[in-house]
Amino acid sequence: MDTNDIKSFVAPVRTLMGPGPSDVHPRILGAMARPTVGHLDPVFIRMMEELKALLQYAFQTRNELTIPVSAPGSAGMETCFVNLVELGDKVIVCQNGVFGGRMRENVERIGATPVMVEDEWGRAVDPNKLEAALEANPDAKVVAFVHAETSTGVESDAKALCEIARRHDCLTIVDAVTSLGGSPLKVDEWGIDAAYSGSQKCLSCTPGLSPVTFSARAVEELKSRRTKVQSWFLDLSLVMGYWGGDGKRSYHHTAPINPLYGLHEALVILKEEGLQNAWERHARNHHALRRGIEAMGLTFAVREQERLPQLNAVNVPEGVDEAGVRRRLLSDFDLEIGAGLGSLTGRIWRIGLMGHASNIKNVMFCLGAMESVLGEMKAPINQGAAVSAAARGADG
Ligand SMILES: Cc1ncc(COP(=O)(O)O)c(C=O)c1O
Repeated sequence: MDTNDIKSFVAPVRTLMGPGPSDVHPRILGAMARPTVGHLDPVFIRMMEELKALLQYAFQTRNELTIPVSAPGSAGMETCFVNLVELGDKVIVCQNGVFGGRMRENVERIGATPVMVEDEWGRAVDPNKLEAALEANPDAKVVAFVHAETSTGVESDAKALCEIARRHDCLTIVDAVTSLGGSPLKVDEWGIDAAYSGSQKCLSCTPGLSPVTFSARAVEELKSRRTKVQSWFLDLSLVMGYWGGDGKRSYHHTAPINPLYGLHEALVILKEEGLQNAWERHARNHHALRRGIEAMGLTFAVREQERLPQLNAVNVPEGVDEAGVRRRLLSDFDLEIGAGLGSLTGRIWRIGLMGHASNIKNVMFCLGAMESVLGEMKAPINQGAAVSAAARGADG
């Protein structure tokens, strides 16, 4: 490539209704454009304290160790595993989609032993299977599972799974990347020991930050480790030298200043709306989309009681070119929806209604655009029914 031809990159304006990132709220983009200050500047440190308090609100926790890791959700996942799991430990990993598989990878790379509890992709984690695995493995130290499986659009019963883990005296690591801000997540009430999330889903911030929270029990575990955390960057005992609330701040790494302004703004927006209202909005828009999808004659891949409101897995009708539809939506309507992953590749579309993008305007736009593209591609759908079905009962 001749670098003389390269000009500023100007991204098109898309509507992001895939599995994330979601549309970023303009207030967040505005916040990120504010002047950069030093990462030890007192005004910035004050903002960091607010950020921790806002994250506690979002996670519904009083955990002191609640911070954003300076890297995407995958780093949040790794932070939980490398800090809480040591060589030789046994970890029960529940897998019902792509991200449970990544948990397994994390456990193996630490030199610990994963015990897999497998459920079909598209189904929630079965609490009975977890119970049986814990009975068969009384020496297990940690139970890990994904609350909101973005790869399939499935929500597992985090409260029930944590209760079982606790009864067997195990710590819990919960992937809340897609649930935080979008559907009920109650870290303290459910007894979650470590949870991680991502900035780019239901918080509608830009990608690249991973909020994590560790319970007092998990912090005790950190303090009594036999070995050093294998990752220098993610070792929370070092990271807390910078994020800790003891008044002393020492350099660990240069914090991503402007993205942190963005996350702060995202959480202020969440607080203004109220967590409960945000959960209800996600549920309401999911139901509007569902009415439209079903009126078109399309079906959901996940049974109703296990569906995530923020990520809708829709079956691709027989004979329809799955990728072709997504390409047309992007080129003709600037609309991004997601494809299936792994065994669901080519079989489902994943329609996100996350954060700022979870609104009735997007529901109507997406249904209208899909109807138009599917109609042109001669797909077997009912024409003209989706938008009015979605509107029925919709209240904004
Ligand atoms: C459930 C889940 N866990 C982990 C991740 C990884 O997050 P990131 O892509 O920000 O690294 C994702 C991203 O989509 C996810 O959906």
